[in-house]
Amino acid sequence: EKGGFDWFMRKEIFEQPQAIADTLLGRYNNRGELVLDEMRSISQEDLRRVNKIVIVACGTAYYAGMVAKYAIEHWTRVPCEVEVASEFRYRDPIIDPLTLCVTISQSGETADTLMAIRHARVQGAKVIAICNTNGATIPRESDAVIYTHAGPEIGVASTKGFLTQVAACYLLGLYLAQVRGMKYADEIRAVTDELGRTPQMIQQLLDNAQQVYDLARDLSSINDFIFLGRHVGYPVALEGALKLKEIAYQHAEGFAAGELKHGPIAIIEPGMPVFVIVPPQGRDQLHDKVVSNIQEVRARGARTIVLVEEDDADVEAYSNVIIRLPRVSTLLQPLVAAVPLQLFACELATLLGHDVDQPRNLAKSVTVE
Ligand code: F6R
Repeated sequence: EKGGFDWFMRKEIFEQPQAIADTLLGRYNNRGELVLDEMRSISQEDLRRVNKIVIVACGTAYYAGMVAKYAIEHWTRVPCEVEVASEFRYRDPIIDPLTLCVTISQSGETADTLMAIRHARVQGAKVIAICNTNGATIPRESDAVIYTHAGPEIGVASTKGFLTQVAACYLLGLYLAQVRGMKYADEIRAVTDELGRTPQMIQQLLDNAQQVYDLARDLSSINDFIFLGRHVGYPVALEGALKLKEIAYQHAEGFAAGELKHGPIAIIEPGMPVFVIVPPQGRDQLHDKVVSNIQEVRARGARTIVLVEEDDADVEAYSNVIIRLPRVSTLLQPLVAAVPLQLFACELATLLGHDVDQPRNLAKSVTVE
């Protein structure tokens, strides 16, 4: 049933090109417009009136929500907050009938998330669930749903769940932009085309898994790992660190690269592995700023593992290991950048002799608050 793989997790990582393709399938009509067919009691008029979006989720799904915030605000200009579900309800959040609550849950049964959406609905907000499990409690209690079509995820550590959540969040962001007026029509068309090409990009990374496996072997005696990212690379850094904690039981932290100088750089020691997700080269300065961060940690002796797009030569002098990513626009980069980090965690945990699919102290769905 693991299809020749040693773990469900590894199998699920390798299923991601198909999972993304399935999640995108059938979402467009023959005029190239997005059609989301389970909007149920949320009308287009409701979506036009929304003046605030609040995303609530836990763990990996929360990181997908962080990615979504960047994309949704950019495409729709609607203010968008993202919060861990367990914090949301207890701080008396400001929600009203013009708030759209988006919840993300692979299982659809996470208690913290369920309580958060119940709270949002009592305040009159409409709730859209992004969920991988047909008919689960969270989509049943929501006003609308976008199902990710990842297929069952059995490994406790979420992988294809995460990538398909990110893809579904993009669909939602593009749909909102479409319904609310196509200010960014050209960009939206370009993103749509590019999204369609991401399965083959992910496949390309999977074909190079051996490079990441070799890296895991080289780093198998290390107990502290740092992950840096900026913009949408920041949640990817957090996700990379979470995967290592969950299954390899190693201390790992993710930081916003720009925050480094505000404290975390003090912990860098010679030999410490620092994974850096570099934004694509492009119109803004993000790329150059992150390249400077690589220089800064290298100057303090860090071992830099740099995830960077394929034709970027700016990092070569400061990288111990370069993991090449297919060319993709900044907002979509999480769909590719997360993959080597998943492979790394899976391989490291395997080398350390852990039960990758059933890590200690964790359950696949957390049904208590
Ligand atoms: C991480 C992981 C957890 C879940 C979180 C939310 O690998 O599996 O952090 O992402 O418990 O679960 P769902 O998405 O089922 O609500």
